[in-house]
Amino acid sequence: MIFWRVKPLDQILATAEKKSLKRQLGPIQLTLLGIGAVIGTGIFVLTSEAAQKAGPGMMLSFVIAAVVCGLAALAYAELAAMVPVSGSAYTYTYGVMGELIAWIVGWALVLEYAIGATAVCVGWAGYVNGLLNSGVFGLVKPGALALPMWLQVGPTLGGGFNLLAFLIGVAVTGLLVIGTSKSARVNAVLVAIKIIALTVFVVIALPAVKSANLHPFLPGGWGNPVGSNGLGVLGAAASIFFAYVGFDAVSTAAEETRNPNRNIPIGLIGALVICTVFYLLVGYGAAGSVGAQPMLGPNGMPLDPGTLAMAKACGNSQALVCSHEPLSHVMSMLGHPVIANMIGLAAIVALPSVILMMMFGQTRIFFTMSRDGLLPNVFSKVHPRFFTPHVITYVTGIVVSLLAALFPVGKLADTSNAGTLLAFAMVSVGVMILRRSQPGRKRPFRTPLVWIVCPLAVAGCILLFVNLSIVAKVVFVIWAVIGLIFYRLYGYRRSQMSPEQAGRVLDDAA
Ligand code: ALA
Repeated sequence: MIFWRVKPLDQILATAEKKSLKRQLGPIQLTLLGIGAVIGTGIFVLTSEAAQKAGPGMMLSFVIAAVVCGLAALAYAELAAMVPVSGSAYTYTYGVMGELIAWIVGWALVLEYAIGATAVCVGWAGYVNGLLNSGVFGLVKPGALALPMWLQVGPTLGGGFNLLAFLIGVAVTGLLVIGTSKSARVNAVLVAIKIIALTVFVVIALPAVKSANLHPFLPGGWGNPVGSNGLGVLGAAASIFFAYVGFDAVSTAAEETRNPNRNIPIGLIGALVICTVFYLLVGYGAAGSVGAQPMLGPNGMPLDPGTLAMAKACGNSQALVCSHEPLSHVMSMLGHPVIANMIGLAAIVALPSVILMMMFGQTRIFFTMSRDGLLPNVFSKVHPRFFTPHVITYVTGIVVSLLAALFPVGKLADTSNAGTLLAFAMVSVGVMILRRSQPGRKRPFRTPLVWIVCPLAVAGCILLFVNLSIVAKVVFVIWAVIGLIFYRLYGYRRSQMSPEQAGRVLDDAA
């Protein structure tokens, strides 16, 4: 029986009351936190990867990924409003499908948030290294400020220790320990910078769109859902999905939110809608203004991005698909070098807000899992002055920073997506189960057309999952096996829901 130890929702709400965080976030701050978590490496970096997989058809990939996220957001909003406590998908599944599934989901969320944060640290470092290497807008001689190569990239790319990726992880950890409200204020400024950068991009790129640039529209085809090689429109959708990941981080802040029943759905859906509008305009502007044709292999199909064959095919090519900073690249190609630099600078300044929200989400999920006894109790200690879970923030920060220093950005995003898709699917299943098992429970937000929306969300998650790269799927399975072993050896016995712990509580009461 896999649905064991279902934690009653009322008990979840009561536990949260006992060991609670300070409620200080409102609807605007939440929406900003959502946008801060969402707009990042996906649009600023992975746009060229999507173009390589799908060509101009990547616009469809943006739409497909947005639809899957939108369906999942509607499901998230129902559960987040009903159970406004920390922990997001992990907590919801605990209350609906029991401890084992909750543990698997919580474990998968580590991929989403921690590996996602790691990927963005590495992406950020790439931009800054590029700036330093080029001489900081001509202020110094190119190369004068460049770090030695072994400090620019991790060992898998021929370096040693990606120093800047490590340092940005450490800096964000410090912000999170100081406290949510200060971090949220910094986040609001960074969100404004991102929105301005994308707006300027759209205003310049859209008038330059020529329909000839959009042909052929689907050079990589649709992709093959079964036995996928991760290419085509569906392969690109599975990767660019990373660009939307993060809106659900809003729900991890539920315990720090005023009037969460109203504000959490506003934050979740508001952030997703705003980001989707920008992405569609940016994708159309990029592909339509400078073209987005992929590099083709001998078989006439697009080459797999991030491979040696692709790097060789690119050489010194100015094609969009070869750029590591595609949005700046489009501006340069359109004859706006200063704006190109400014957009690059905006990415450098703003990407840390994404790292911040991903790490924020990770610490809150660990905090909740620890409070439930599935992880050591010390992780749910709250700082006496800052009211933040500082111990787990330090642990998460060190791990994220070290991984960022050692691994490349490439498949990290895909791996993060694998964990996210599982969580999204489980939340959608949870909404349906609860509608049946507890129809009378108060639902401040109801998923519209639930019997259509939720099954479609699950189907969409499965479709994107099978179209991920093989590496991501393999890492996902290995991670899940490690998680199950850890659960059997630790969480299974230490859980607040285990018979031993329940007995201890009774003894204490006697
Ligand atoms: N959506 C976030 C990004 O694109 C994770 O960086």
